[in-house]
Amino acid sequence: MSRLRVTTVVGARPQFVKLAPLSPRLREVADERILHTGQHYDHEMSKLFFEELAIPEPDLHLGVGSGSHGAQVGKTLVAVEDDLRAHRPDLLLVFGDTNSTLGAAVAAAKEGVPVAHVEAGVRGWNRAEPEETNRVLTDHIADLLFVPTEIAVANLVREGITRGVSNVGDVMVDTLRVARETHGDGAERVASLGVEPGRYVLCTFHRPANVDAPETLGAIVDALAAIDGPVVWPLHPRTRARLDAFGLDRRVADAGIRIVPPVGYLTMLALLSNARLALTDSGGLQKEAYLVRVPCVTVSAQTAWVETVDTGWNRLVPPDAARIGAAVDGFAGGDRHPDCYGDGHASDAIVAAVRAWAR
Ligand code: UD1
Repeated sequence: MSRLRVTTVVGARPQFVKLAPLSPRLREVADERILHTGQHYDHEMSKLFFEELAIPEPDLHLGVGSGSHGAQVGKTLVAVEDDLRAHRPDLLLVFGDTNSTLGAAVAAAKEGVPVAHVEAGVRGWNRAEPEETNRVLTDHIADLLFVPTEIAVANLVREGITRGVSNVGDVMVDTLRVARETHGDGAERVASLGVEPGRYVLCTFHRPANVDAPETLGAIVDALAAIDGPVVWPLHPRTRARLDAFGLDRRVADAGIRIVPPVGYLTMLALLSNARLALTDSGGLQKEAYLVRVPCVTVSAQTAWVETVDTGWNRLVPPDAARIGAAVDGFAGGDRHPDCYGDGHASDAIVAAVRAWAR
């Protein structure tokens, strides 16, 4: 039998993190072609991840870039379709819930190329979030659904999807396991940034619902200003643009909040592992906080990672300064910590399932 040919599509930061452990495994059994949509294109948002995580160079950059959601999905669809026509792979591999994920999955569906979706079955139950539409539609297109948790399996059953589903655990645990084995907990990296391990709050915000309106972003800045002790804030480009546009940058500076540019995976993991608390709206960071046993306050009405809340390690709050303050104060995390996200060998399970499917 000739070697399996897989086209992988990534485009945004969280997808690079998920591809990192899987790509080397996949390449043991398949020829992989990587397409980078270019949804994230700044050095700190893209190239830095490929370098730090030793991800193979993309074979093609599709240059989708910024734009409306429709434009990002549409440009991805057209560009991926062209590439699928030229290369006719056996399988298209996509990750997570971004506009790049959906655009690529639709292109494959139209070309009759089977789709494998890594991080399938995850639901936040809020259709107002663009990621939710991307998740649901991609899952209904996918032939192979690699889900990270038992809850994700149940979510798919509720939507009538039972074929092709494998609970393999979460690939982000693989990435984290390998990084920690190689680089430890990163305390030195953190100290070199001038913050004291164990003393600061790490925060990240980029969700449109939190950062696109002056009132909500202003309330978040007020909450950060009221936190006792240092606050470190790696700033997503969307959020930086909004802080400037709303004239909130001054308030941030006056409050002594430590702004840093977007950081790569290893620095983020080091900052998280050594934080006293994480305050975020990132799905991935909530889960990583749980994995490294750091309490997390999430500014959102719901989470796709309900296990983190049920075990007492994550608290959900609205973008309201007093509510955020009350959730942060004295929060030390949960008292149980089950392995809800697998054992850090999801990539092996995915490759085994792909091989079995191809036989
Ligand atoms: C996207 C994903 C989200 C994921 C997040 C991780 C969708 C719908 N959203 O959100 O699920 O959690 O990535 O970061 O796919 N920008 C730059 N430089 C870059 C990339 C973006 O300046 O390298 C700017 C864009 O011009 C835009 C903003 O950042 O103004 C947002 O980028 P975009 O890709 O639209 O979505 P994210 O908010 O990053």
